[in-house]
Amino acid sequence: MFKVAIVGASGLLGRALVRELQTQTGWQVVQTAFSRVGPQQVALDVRDARAVVDFVAREAPDAIVIAAAERRPDVCEHDPAAARALNVDAVRHFAAAATARNAWVLSISTDYVFDGSAPPYLPESTPNPLNAYGRSKLEGERALLDATGNALVLRLPLLYGPIVSWQESAVTSLVPAIRAAAQKDGKPALMDAWATRYPTFTPDVALVIRELLTRCADGDAVRGIAQWSGDEPMTKYEIAQRIARALGIDANLIAQTEPADATPRPRDCHLDSGRLEALGIGRRTPFDAGIRAVLDAFEAQHPRA
Ligand SMILES: NC(=O)c1ccc[n+]([C@@H]2O[C@H](COP(=O)([O-])OP(=O)(O)OC[C@H]3O[C@@H](n4cnc5c(N)ncnc54)[C@H](OP(=O)(O)O)[C@@H]3O)[C@@H](O)[C@H]2O)c1
Repeated sequence: MFKVAIVGASGLLGRALVRELQTQTGWQVVQTAFSRVGPQQVALDVRDARAVVDFVAREAPDAIVIAAAERRPDVCEHDPAAARALNVDAVRHFAAAATARNAWVLSISTDYVFDGSAPPYLPESTPNPLNAYGRSKLEGERALLDATGNALVLRLPLLYGPIVSWQESAVTSLVPAIRAAAQKDGKPALMDAWATRYPTFTPDVALVIRELLTRCADGDAVRGIAQWSGDEPMTKYEIAQRIARALGIDANLIAQTEPADATPRPRDCHLDSGRLEALGIGRRTPFDAGIRAVLDAFEAQHPRA
């Protein structure tokens, strides 16, 4: 039976993938988590090389999806060594362990490997990360692909999807400020109108990964670098406007036309998804429908007083 290991199953993307694979019959799925280990999950610290080797030897997966990472640019900038331990060294541990068993590895990377000055970017475009997060993810890509030919790097842009807290995604993290800016006498919310993003729905990415796993199970694995992206360009200011509309509130939002983040971020990293599209892989949920589903589900679970 085809066996898949999902590493980082407790995270924003990992949870969507677990949900997607529940619809797949005939596969065995093993999930790992770190600080939020659920009853169906194996506790694994991916920074521990020995533990990774033991996990892969014990479970003997045919495919490993690595969704564990430090994905917060400000945290990476502050502590690049800690970011490298997760985003580079851990990927290297899995690459070595998977090579020994000839398992296929799919590792998630980011559009932040590019500098955002000349979109759209192809898988083979020249990377030039602007911050520690992007540098660590690029190094992780290279660590994987240098160690094994039986692997795929899947680059993704800004993600949103079902959440357990607003802060889990840089899209939904805007909600508290949007709500505050809709209060009578509330503070206006300053929103970035400089950088263009392509918010991508995690259930769509999960479907892409399931289709890639299916190819692997069929003996036709995709290897090298692939990219998947939503196709609606928008700034965070526009994202905030759409969220306010979905929430049915009138928020006082102010467009900030110059970059204001302490950590440098690229302006427009539009990822070309043509390689996967040519394989007939993919789905794009319109942003307004996706964000409404996320907001409705979260508010149903956390009714406001
Ligand atoms: N979110 C985005 O907008 C975005 C955009 C582009 C690319 N990506 C990439 O997509 C992938 C998934 O991101 P995400 O947003 O799902 O991240 P996330 O929600 O922050 O989840 C991170 C995952 O990593 C696990 N983890 C953290 N430290 C660990 C450790 N020492 N050992 C084992 N597991 C550990 C966490 O486990 P616990 O929760 O159990 O501690 C969690 O499952 C990452 O590679 C990220 O770089 C994300």
